Amino acid sequence: METPLLIDFKDRIAHITINRPKALNAINAPVMEGLHDFFFEGFKAYDDLKGVIITGSGEKAFAAGADITQFPSLTVEDGLNLSLFGQKTYARIEEFIVPVIALVNGFSLGGGNELAMACHLRIATPNAKFSQPEVNLGLIPGYGGTQRLIELIGKSKAMELLLTGDMIDASEAFTYGLVNYVLEPEAALEKCVSIIQKTAKKGPLAIEETIRCVRAHFDEKMDGFLYEAQAFGRTMGSPESKEGVQAFLEKRKPNF
Ligand code: CAA
Repeated sequence: METPLLIDFKDRIAHITINRPKALNAINAPVMEGLHDFFFEGFKAYDDLKGVIITGSGEKAFAAGADITQFPSLTVEDGLNLSLFGQKTYARIEEFIVPVIALVNGFSLGGGNELAMACHLRIATPNAKFSQPEVNLGLIPGYGGTQRLIELIGKSKAMELLLTGDMIDASEAFTYGLVNYVLEPEAALEKCVSIIQKTAKKGPLAIEETIRCVRAHFDEKMDGFLYEAQAFGRTMGSPESKEGVQAFLEKRKPNF
């Protein structure tokens, strides 16, 4: 049986590959459980983890959505539970302690695009295609897509894409701000790695708190400014900032 999720640790970066190319990397239960387990517990096994890159196996797809073959027998309650588990997993990715980058190398559809949107950054290859096509199935996005698409590209365009299920290409996605870069495959991977190498040189707590502060802006239950002030205090009191500030004053590189 194929391993649904490949995890390769190299130079302090975890490379996660959704490995169901024959099904265009559709996200079935083992893939979702694998993501859940890695981001909640599994990451602890990787020493000095500085970033995560998620991509799809093969050249055709990042992930073509949730696995539709699991849907026919599902009840209202099953649908709710499927959605809640996916939302919990993706929220954990969004709040993860180190940068998570989606390397979108083909179809990024439905629950697959929701995964890309939960990542902190998205870098696409020119063949990438994006859509929330759930309405074609009489469904709606269930892994946070109705919320994150608005956050990333604004209400007007998000509403259009959600209602029509239209598919957009990489350059259109770049125009809307859905992806950070569009690059040929090799350059796309290099870009992902170079961004993580850059953030790896910064204070780890500062990186973690920055991710949380940005998320706080979109969390109605949180006061983003208050959270920022508290996080600023935490970073100010941390040994890491003492070293960063001291290094600046001594005109040397910090040793975080
Ligand atoms: N689930 C399960 N299998 C899928 C799949 C999915 N989401 N997407 C593709 N596949 C399978 C196909 O069934 C096909 O399998 P077989 O070879 O066994 O027939 C294989 O992958 C290759 O796909 P196609 O032959 O269809 O390839 P294509 O190039 O002709 O079309 C495509 C590509 C346009 C992406 C088309 O496969 C497609 O429309 N897929 C479905 C996309 C979709 O609707 N995604 C949303 C799922 S619902 C969701 O994600 C809900 C949520 O938010 C939680």
